[in-house]
Amino acid sequence: MISPKKYARAAKRLPEGFKTINEFFNYVYNDDEMIWMGQNTNHLHEENDIMYSMLESVKNKDYCKYPPPEGFPELKDLILQDLGLTEGYDILVTAGGTESLYLCMNDILDPTNNVITCDPGYLIIDNFASRFADHVKSIPIYNKECGYKLTPELVRENMDENTKLISLVDPLNPLGSCYTKGEIKEFADMAIDNDLYLLHDITYRDFARDHHLVAKYAPENTVTVYSFSKIYGMAGLRIGALISAPDVVDSIKTIVINDLGTNVVAQKGALAALKSKPEWLGRIRDTTRGNQKIIKEAVDNVEGAYLPVYPSDGNMFVIDLVETGVEPVNIAEYLLKKKIFAREGAYTSKLFGHRYLRVSFSIPQEQVEKFAFHFEEGMKALRSK
Ligand SMILES: Cc1ncc(COP(=O)(O)O)c(C=O)c1O
Repeated sequence: MISPKKYARAAKRLPEGFKTINEFFNYVYNDDEMIWMGQNTNHLHEENDIMYSMLESVKNKDYCKYPPPEGFPELKDLILQDLGLTEGYDILVTAGGTESLYLCMNDILDPTNNVITCDPGYLIIDNFASRFADHVKSIPIYNKECGYKLTPELVRENMDENTKLISLVDPLNPLGSCYTKGEIKEFADMAIDNDLYLLHDITYRDFARDHHLVAKYAPENTVTVYSFSKIYGMAGLRIGALISAPDVVDSIKTIVINDLGTNVVAQKGALAALKSKPEWLGRIRDTTRGNQKIIKEAVDNVEGAYLPVYPSDGNMFVIDLVETGVEPVNIAEYLLKKKIFAREGAYTSKLFGHRYLRVSFSIPQEQVEKFAFHFEEGMKALRSK
C-alpha cells in the first residue's frame, strides 16, 4: 500500500502531456466527448427556461448595464423562499458559493482563532480559513464509527476557547454523507452556547433525501452558503449566495471586493431556475439516484472495491480502492484516456486521498454505463500489472 505522504507527491503528478493544471482543465473543458464525473457538475438539464431566460437576457443586451450590487431583489427573495428563511435573514448574491466562503472567512476570523473542518472535505475551505485564522483543525472522519461525517461529538472533543468557526459541508463533498435533524439541532445549540459560527455549506442540498438548515435553529450564529452550480447545472455561470442574520451580512458587505455586482446573465438564469424548479427537480434527482445504483453494481463486481457511503445524499461519492492495490491516480488516468473525467482522492483529502476515486453522477445514464464498463475493465487491467 502506498503511504499517504508518497501518494501526496504522486497525486501532484499531472496527467501525461500536460504542463500545468490550467492546461489540463482547458483540455477536459474543450473536449466535447469528455464525460464529466470529475467536478460534481450537473449535465442533466435539457433546453429549458434557465437557458431561454439567459438567451433572452443576452438578446436584450442586459449585459451593458451593471446590476444592483447585492443582487436583484427578486432573486434574493426567491433564494430565501427556496430555503424557507423569510423573516430575520439577509442575503448577498455572489460569484458562486466560492466567493461566499471567502467572504465569510475574511469577515468572521481573527488571527487568534481556529477553525474546525473535516478530512475528507472541500479543501478550499481549509485554504481560505488558514488565510485569516491562526490554524485549521481538520478532523479525520473517514470511518464507519462517525458515519463518515464531522459529528457533534467530534467537534466537542476538538474545540477549545479559540475555536470561532465550524465548517459543515452538508451533504459532504466528496462522500455524500448528510446530517439528521437531531445533529443539526445539536450543532445549533453548540454554536449558541459557545458563541461560535457555523458555516453551513449547502451546495448539494437538493440532492439529499432529507435536509435541515442550521440557520433555522441558530440564525445569529450561522452563515449559509448557497450555490447555483450543482442542482441548477450552472457551474460555468459562477453564481451563488450567502445568507445570515442582517448584522452579519451588513458586516460582510463592508469587505466585498466585487462591489459592482454579480454577472447579470447568470442572475437572470438563476431567477428562471428558481421559478422553474418544480418542473425539473424530480427528474434530475431520480436520474442521479438511478445512476448511483449502476455504479454500485460495477463497484461490487471489483473485488476489494467498495462504497463507504451508499446511497449518497449528494451527486457524488467515493469508491474505496485501497484493498485492490490499484492507485486512484492510475485508474483516473486510465479513465481519462477513455474520455471519462473523474478525480483521485488527493483533491479532497490530505489523509485518505490514497484510498479512493471520487465520481459524480449527475450525467445521462448512458454515460454512467460507459463509466461502469471502463471502470471494471480498467481495474482488471491495472490490477494485473
Ligand atoms: C462543498 C462545496 N462548496 C462550494 C463549491 C463551489 O461552488 P460554486 O461553484 O458555487 O463556487 C463546491 C464545488 O464543488 C463544493 O463542493
